[in-house]
Amino acid sequence: MNRKRTSILISGRGSNMAALIAAAADPSFPAEIVSVISNDAEANGLQMAAQNGIQTRAIARKDYSSREEHDAAIDAALGESRSEMVCLAGYMRRLTAGFVEKWSGRMINIHPALLPAFKGLDTHAAALSAGVRIHGCTVHFVTAEVDAGPIIAQAAVPVPAEDDEAALAARVLKAEHQLYPLALSLVASGRAVLKDGKVVHYGRNAGDAGAVLISPAPPSSDPGAVDLEHLARFTP
Ligand code: GRF
Repeated sequence: MNRKRTSILISGRGSNMAALIAAAADPSFPAEIVSVISNDAEANGLQMAAQNGIQTRAIARKDYSSREEHDAAIDAALGESRSEMVCLAGYMRRLTAGFVEKWSGRMINIHPALLPAFKGLDTHAAALSAGVRIHGCTVHFVTAEVDAGPIIAQAAVPVPAEDDEAALAARVLKAEHQLYPLALSLVASGRAVLKDGKVVHYGRNAGDAGAVLISPAPPSSDPGAVDLEHLARFTP
């Protein structure tokens, strides 16, 4: 199998990076992680990647006179490792239009919200203050506009009434670690492709079209609970 040579760009903790490395440790996974690049030499993820025998590079913005030159250095490193795909995993810098264009259809990102809701930072606080009962994460192709690229896959989690930001962040992060390897495998194997600004899915990967996540879940033993089957009979 021709496994897609993939590099991961990080800025910090690297837990999504670790999930991708763990998935790609299986030789039947359609992507192989060939390098991890961070804009911060102190990023914890770099150490973790090196311990897993993966080539690491720190490429700091301060060592270059412009954003374009910084991104060109990253692009050169991707070339050296013969990377075919890029995964952004908590990479905290905005990439330049030229870099994004060059990697179009081959660069993906994970965002901790169900896009297009809650773009940007502090997504869990925003979700709590909006009072949503379902939140989650999204993997999308990267385009020039931040957090706006075509969506490849999403995972949803419930937001219980008594939730706080830390608990919600942990619940979403757990979903991220499942979703990102799945999304990478879809793209690396050619089952999800960027075409005319949309993601086209090929093969039997459309997900469980019958699945419903209801939050708050109707408590089955609660006599006051809504009987959804009963309700459905009156719904046109
Ligand atoms: C994740 O929540 C990811 O969705 C966001 O940044 C965070 C990175 O966490 N883009 P980690 O470094 O992967 O642990």
